[in-house]
Amino acid sequence: MILVTGGCGFIGSAFVLDWLAASGEPLVNLDALTYAGHPGNLAEVEGRPGYTFVHGDIADLALVQSLLQQHRPRAVVHLAAETHVDRSIAGPEAFVHTNVLGSVRLLQACLSYWQALPPAEAAAFRFLNVSTDEVFGALARGDAPFTEQHPYRPNSPYAASKAAADHFVRSWWHTYGFPALTTHCSNNYGPRQFPEKLIPLMLHNALEGKPLPVYGDGLQVRDWLHVQDHCAALRAVLERGQPGESYAIGGSCERTNLDVVRALCAVLDELRPQAGPHARLIEHVPDRPGHDRRYAIDSNKVRREAGWGPKIAFGQGLRSTVEWYLAHREWVQSVTSGSYRDWIQRQYPGLETRA
Ligand code: NAD
Ligand code: DAU
Repeated sequence: MILVTGGCGFIGSAFVLDWLAASGEPLVNLDALTYAGHPGNLAEVEGRPGYTFVHGDIADLALVQSLLQQHRPRAVVHLAAETHVDRSIAGPEAFVHTNVLGSVRLLQACLSYWQALPPAEAAAFRFLNVSTDEVFGALARGDAPFTEQHPYRPNSPYAASKAAADHFVRSWWHTYGFPALTTHCSNNYGPRQFPEKLIPLMLHNALEGKPLPVYGDGLQVRDWLHVQDHCAALRAVLERGQPGESYAIGGSCERTNLDVVRALCAVLDELRPQAGPHARLIEHVPDRPGHDRRYAIDSNKVRREAGWGPKIAFGQGLRSTVEWYLAHREWVQSVTSGSYRDWIQRQYPGLETRA
């Protein structure tokens, strides 16, 4: 069986659903259910044999130790994190708690567990550290895309906390020979992404007739990958990646933020012509402090060594994502009550009243 952390979040829930659909191998999901974690994301597998949910913090060393002893996983897929850059700028401490301290505690528990395994099980054990391309900082226009060799230059508190975790993972391999692998993925999109991130936020606002707040000139570039393709890459790295190595994962799909928002508006115009044109709602707002200008990924290594490649074209993936959100308005309602509204009021002053 495998242990997944953060399985109630956006990528975690896609990973758990894919895993249970594709293999009969049991899975334990450890999640603290922060504002970003929703057990409802996994309602369809709740109660199914082979799926166990544990509500808890990865920084709770005793809890993680007991889970490892009880379930004896052959692998750990570590996705739990604080993930939103803007929140890390507003309040970095939660990022230190989970992304740094939590990751280190998880590594400590896994190291002792792994060291006590019989040789054959120890040789087969893997720890997959799901990191981000943001640890590499920003590219200028014309720079070659990030590879695994790119120097670490984290620019936001979020990226710094993920970089810190990566360095601990690297040191666990170097010092103890602990069989860890790290992935650096670019921007994901797809169903069940919390509406604080660009695509679901814009979608949510557009459906409510509210302004679409584009930071600065909107010409920042991200490299988009559908979450299902990311999950397939994680499975490929888990099965075929080499311990001690890292793998950059991306969609080779660079778009400016304005292009993404306009493409989203075009899909909405098609699906809801009576409410269009949605692009009239686009509004430029003050830029994110320290905003990284461009991310792009060279995925040659993971393609070559793990036999992975993206399958979902951006246009097709964006359309199916919009369709998912339109068909799951109750999901959006359930995650956007209470503390979500407080966050939106603080991050986008006056936006609600301009609607
Ligand atoms: P998310 O914010 O949607 O979900 C994070 C999950 O982690 C939530 O379920 C939350 O409850 C859980 N969690 C947070 N703190 C925890 C703690 N202390 N203990 C246990 N659980 C905790 O995140 P996501 O977008 O699905 O990202 C998942 C992972 O992938 C993160 O490590 C992130 O850095 C990485 N990543 C994300 C992207 C992206 O575009 N979303 C791209 C590359 C890498
Ligand atoms: O690159 C991988 C990373 O992608 C992950 O590690 C992070 O967890 C994930 O949040 C994401 O980070 P970004 O900062 O790139 O994603 P976000 O959706 O917050 O923003 C995408 C771009 O859109 C970015 O240039 C900022 C811009 N933006 C975002 C919001 C929320 C806006 O213009 N307006 C907004 O309201």
